[in-house]
Amino acid sequence: MKITAFNGTHRTGESNTSILIDQFLQGAAAEGAQVEHIRLTAAKIQLCTACKACWQKTPGKCVIKDDMSLLIEKFISSDVVVLASPIYADNISGLLKTFIDRLIPIGDPHWELDEKGESRHCRRYQNPTKLVVISNCGYPEQSHFDVLRLYFRRMCRNMHLELSGEIYRGAGALLAGGVPEFAEYLSDYLKLVKNAGQEVVRQGRVSDTLTEKLEAPMIPLPGFNQIFLKKVNQIVNAQIPKMAE
Ligand SMILES: Cc1cc2nc3c(=O)[nH]c(=O)nc-3n(C[C@H](O)[C@H](O)[C@H](O)COP(=O)(O)O)c2cc1C
Repeated sequence: MKITAFNGTHRTGESNTSILIDQFLQGAAAEGAQVEHIRLTAAKIQLCTACKACWQKTPGKCVIKDDMSLLIEKFISSDVVVLASPIYADNISGLLKTFIDRLIPIGDPHWELDEKGESRHCRRYQNPTKLVVISNCGYPEQSHFDVLRLYFRRMCRNMHLELSGEIYRGAGALLAGGVPEFAEYLSDYLKLVKNAGQEVVRQGRVSDTLTEKLEAPMIPLPGFNQIFLKKVNQIVNAQIPKMAE
């Protein structure tokens, strides 16, 4: 099984999204999957110009000469694709959205009705068949992923993909392990993310039981969100004078 993760963070160095992807892929690789983590910041990806050449003049091929032709090859030769992004303004990053827009050549321009009678494009390629979503955000509540939950359901319907796992994590800054008191909780959480990678290879999807655990508070301390908010505001206050210097 080939699993390719496309990481839409705009950060070029360490990133919280990368930590989640790497755990997930480690789990998948341990079960024998061939895995790849692609950082989209390292690729040249121009905006889709909506010319529709990929549907008419050069079917299945985009006329823009950049890294998307290689990335599309990787996408359609994967069994499972992971689309990963931090939350930016309640949504996926601009980079991941630009990447998704540029996937338009993999669709067939003809229309069909799905099993519920709703219109969508026909499939051009057999692969990939499954999508796993990975995201993290700054705020601690899981409600900040509500837009993504709906968005990726719609995307899977449109692109004929099975939504095989969703890994969403608030308070993403803690993933880098900078708070020693939380080390054990973090390690337990990252094990769950690794298990998710194992389950996708073993049974084709992340189980409901594991998803429930992934959604539970990462730091299960009473009043954690209040403590976190206070700490964040202290950090913000400490940074402001430095920035003003
Ligand atoms: C432009 C921008 C917009 C953001 N918008 C949100 C937001 O709407 N909600 C939220 O909880 N975090 C938001 N964040 C915080 C990031 O989601 C958070 O820092 C995340 O851990 C970054 O992941 P990364 O290290 O993989 O880039 C935003 C960050 C940036 C840079």
